[in-house]
Amino acid sequence: MSDTCSHTNKIDDFKCIVVSSEALSDKIGWLTVRCRELAERILPGTCVMVFPSASNDPLLGRPFAVADVDVIKGELSVCYMVIGRGTEMMLRMSPGSEVRLRGPFGVPLPSVDGKINIAAGGAGIATFLYFAKKYPEKVADIFLGIPGCGYEKYAARISELIPKVRIFTDDGTFGEGNSMFKVLPKGLGESEKIWSCGPPGFLKALKKHYEDETEKLYFSLDKRMACGYGGCMGCVVETVNGQKRLCADQSLFRADEVTDYGN
Ligand SMILES: Cc1cc2nc3c(=O)[nH]c(=O)nc-3n(C[C@H](O)[C@H](O)[C@H](O)COP(=O)(O)OP(=O)(O)OC[C@H]3O[C@@H](n4cnc5c(N)ncnc54)[C@H](O)[C@@H]3O)c2cc1C
Ligand code: FES
Repeated sequence: MSDTCSHTNKIDDFKCIVVSSEALSDKIGWLTVRCRELAERILPGTCVMVFPSASNDPLLGRPFAVADVDVIKGELSVCYMVIGRGTEMMLRMSPGSEVRLRGPFGVPLPSVDGKINIAAGGAGIATFLYFAKKYPEKVADIFLGIPGCGYEKYAARISELIPKVRIFTDDGTFGEGNSMFKVLPKGLGESEKIWSCGPPGFLKALKKHYEDETEKLYFSLDKRMACGYGGCMGCVVETVNGQKRLCADQSLFRADEVTDYGN
């Protein structure tokens, strides 16, 4: 495990110190850890595996996009849906405790000509947060859909990081209304794109919304991952161009390239 500072692109295991572990709703957690070397290696769109226990149970790390980096403090954060055992353990981590992270892995988000729009559901926005924070001039609009009541703290955290985020709530209790689909731009220009991430139902609805211009719509997908560095073929996505590994080959998929919407 590495706890010294050097710059390489390889994937390593890092001993990190928990700075904070917060619940931002009953289903969303935010974990910030300190490890200067890992923080300095993160590029927008890349991921880390969090090993929720010091023992081998659970054995596998849990993959997450890096949602935020503070290079000055040497800190990085992940924003996650609380799903099962691993994420429940993450929610209980105490400040000052040690946690192992592996990374960075995954293909960084591509550079952009012109501006992109971002549409995300729930914690799916995590994939794009660091990009939007680092390159605000590259983001035209950023739309986030969340359930509503009980998610105020989560909405506040995202707005703090990305002040231009436009929030929509299923129950309409706050934000700009109950559906981003009423305002998502259509008839996109030559170099305009939509990057998206969220539950399969949300991605399917986006594909329908953009059925006349699916070549402008891109998905960031989740698959089950084991190794994180291209060896196990656990994270393969079937595309019209053959099988692609999420961790090693491709980060964004054109909506007309895939029929698989992830986990
Ligand atoms: C590249 C990548 C980036 C991700 N980024 C985020 C993120 O930023 N925020 C977020 O909320 N979620 C993200 N996910 C999904 C997240 O990894 C899972 O929700 C999490 O691993 C569930 O762990 P668990 O132990 O709580 O659930 P359990 O159901 O107990 O997990 C059991 C096993 O399945 C794996 N697993 C379960 N669900 C998924 C899933 N959807 N994707 C991959 N592996 C899964 C776990 O790693 C574990 O090995 C990402 C997934 C991938 C592949
Ligand atoms: S997780 Fe093993 S190949 Fe991607």
